[in-house]
Amino acid sequence: MAKSRKVNAKQGKMGQSNVYNLGTNTVLFFLTLNLVLTVLLMGGLYKHASWTTPKQRRTNREITGEQMEKKAITIDPNSIINLDHGDPTMFESFWKDMGEKATVVIPGWHMMSYFSNASNLCWFLEPEFANQVRRLHRTVGNALTDDRHIIVGVGSTQLIHATLYALTSVEERQPVDVISAAPFYSMYPGITNFLKSGLFKWAGDAKAYTGDSNFIEIICSPNNPDGELRNPILVSQNPGNQIHDMAYYWPQYTPMRGPVDHDITLFTVSKATGHAGTRIGWALVKDADVARRMVKFIEMNSIGVSKDSQVRAAKILELVSDGYEFPDLGKPRLFDFGRRLMADRWQRLRQAVEVSGKFSLPDFPSEFCEFTKELAETYPAFAWLRCEGDAGEDCEGFFGRLKILTRSGTHFGAGPEYVRISMLDRDANFDEFIRRISSQA
Ligand SMILES: Cc1ncc(COP(=O)(O)O)c(C=O)c1O
Repeated sequence: MAKSRKVNAKQGKMGQSNVYNLGTNTVLFFLTLNLVLTVLLMGGLYKHASWTTPKQRRTNREITGEQMEKKAITIDPNSIINLDHGDPTMFESFWKDMGEKATVVIPGWHMMSYFSNASNLCWFLEPEFANQVRRLHRTVGNALTDDRHIIVGVGSTQLIHATLYALTSVEERQPVDVISAAPFYSMYPGITNFLKSGLFKWAGDAKAYTGDSNFIEIICSPNNPDGELRNPILVSQNPGNQIHDMAYYWPQYTPMRGPVDHDITLFTVSKATGHAGTRIGWALVKDADVARRMVKFIEMNSIGVSKDSQVRAAKILELVSDGYEFPDLGKPRLFDFGRRLMADRWQRLRQAVEVSGKFSLPDFPSEFCEFTKELAETYPAFAWLRCEGDAGEDCEGFFGRLKILTRSGTHFGAGPEYVRISMLDRDANFDEFIRRISSQA
């Protein structure tokens, strides 16, 4: 009785196993058999299936953002293709591939105050955003940031408004003329005149300007719409009255000629990284009084700039710089992606234009790029396309009949024979655009 109680207790501990009742030799026999069968089975599987780690299996299942784009979307040949706006959706696939690393999570109680740093001249500027702006300019080498104030704005659009305010004064006898060389960015006249300000007014093409010697010139370089790298046309009575809009001075669009050193320079994440919806731009400003007046404008206009957006923009800029500062980490590289895609698109567009015989495009010489350290082509964000022959009477109308929305040259201070076409749309739209103009041959 005592012996059997002892065995039962052990059985209980082993989870009622019968193994404990078998002889040691029998147990060894079954264990060995089990091992041999397992090895044989695994060997068979190995011959017939590829061997993947769980991580590889996950990667194999994933398709890249670029592939997803191509796979999922086919465009109805009768649909309207909208290439009127410069909506930079072509960058979506890059950021899809970046995945979780670009995700920003903001707890509900974070950044509730109006203030980012009350003691800073630009009190609504998030310090980390400012750090990443300086870092990216250092990495790319496209602008000097030392001894400059960084002013953040709701896109560079708000910064253009703020700069016009900052460069003028209520003591002005009459509104100061604002000019830009044609073809100029079509929003400049609208931004300048929208509120019928008593401080400034739009005065058109800088090349045709004969007005007062106190004027403000906006220099867009590379230029929207034609991609030209530009210098000021005129010398104002006040040489500080120049606004350098450098939204497209990034390596995916143009060879880098080195860091710019202007009094006022504007940039935007919209065109640098494609995050137009984040609505973040920044100004690099030398003069503290001008910077202070810009801050005053933004205070009156929107009491600062979304911190959530600045934090998101900071993360995005950080990842772009990481790609180049730490190449060994193998992170995707934005400017390489952008250049590759733009090179492909421009090559296909030029080919289609040549075959059609109905249009022409500006040519750009190759230049040494200080960023890539090699000879590089120019791939503007817009095609400034000219319709030849009869179509030149109304180039926008010609494309309208192909159900392609473009923006007429008349909005840019040029003639109706020109249209501006966005090169930054999603692959599927761009492919359909090329298909339609190729059909004109
Ligand atoms: C030359 C230029 N400046 C400024 C802007 C405005 O950009 P944001 O989206 O930062 O307001 C654009 C947008 O297309 C632009 O092309």
